[in-house]
Amino acid sequence: MAKKELKLHAVVSPTVTVVVSAYDENGKAEACTLAFYMVSSHIPPCVTIAINATQRRKTLAAMLESKAFVLGIPSVDQVREADYLGVESGYNTDKIRNIGFTTTEAKTVHAPVINELPLSLECEIVHAVTVGSHMQVTGEVKRILAEESILNEKGRIDLSKLKPIIYDEEQLQYLSVGEKVADAFKTGMELKKKLDGGNGNE
Ligand SMILES: Cc1cc2nc3c(=O)[nH]c(=O)nc-3n(C[C@H](O)[C@H](O)[C@H](O)COP(=O)(O)O)c2cc1C
Repeated sequence: MAKKELKLHAVVSPTVTVVVSAYDENGKAEACTLAFYMVSSHIPPCVTIAINATQRRKTLAAMLESKAFVLGIPSVDQVREADYLGVESGYNTDKIRNIGFTTTEAKTVHAPVINELPLSLECEIVHAVTVGSHMQVTGEVKRILAEESILNEKGRIDLSKLKPIIYDEEQLQYLSVGEKVADAFKTGMELKKKLDGGNGNE
């Protein structure tokens, strides 16, 4: 198969688009949209985000001040608002109020939950390190708040109901989650069994 070497760049395609929010030193709720996001620990549950520390980011300053943030997941119906939170700065205006979103203080940390977002993770900052242009901030998840409408009958988050926004850095566009292709931990296990059987390991 022919392969081509690409110009070095941050290949982040595709990622779930998240909105992080934090209180600044005056108690104003700040929020910005991020694509650099990952789940970084199971026990305790942690998430890591990366924010450009070479540029002025009001939300980063606020979260470092309060040592906490809330990570919210918008749905595709909120793509316009999410994009706005990623193109305007809290240094210029009150972004959350401008789009008609409201906040409530998180129960477990000093950070604002954006009420309109269907899924919110209240996070206490446990680690921060700068790598290249970005500061990687890890938050330990202290509380998870989900709208009932995004849960299945077992109380688990259903991606087809949450409808997260997938960000495509390559084409600079937003996508939605696609079709199921297989059962996780099962399709590979079946292949493993077949291969082990073939090698006489079963
Ligand atoms: C789709 C999208 C993804 C983004 N991802 C990131 C990111 O991962 N890290 C980052 O530092 N900025 C990212 N940004 C840019 C910030 O959201 C933007 O600079 C914002 O205006 C910062 O606002 P603030 O100054 O109020 O914090 C993203 C913007 C968009 C639209």
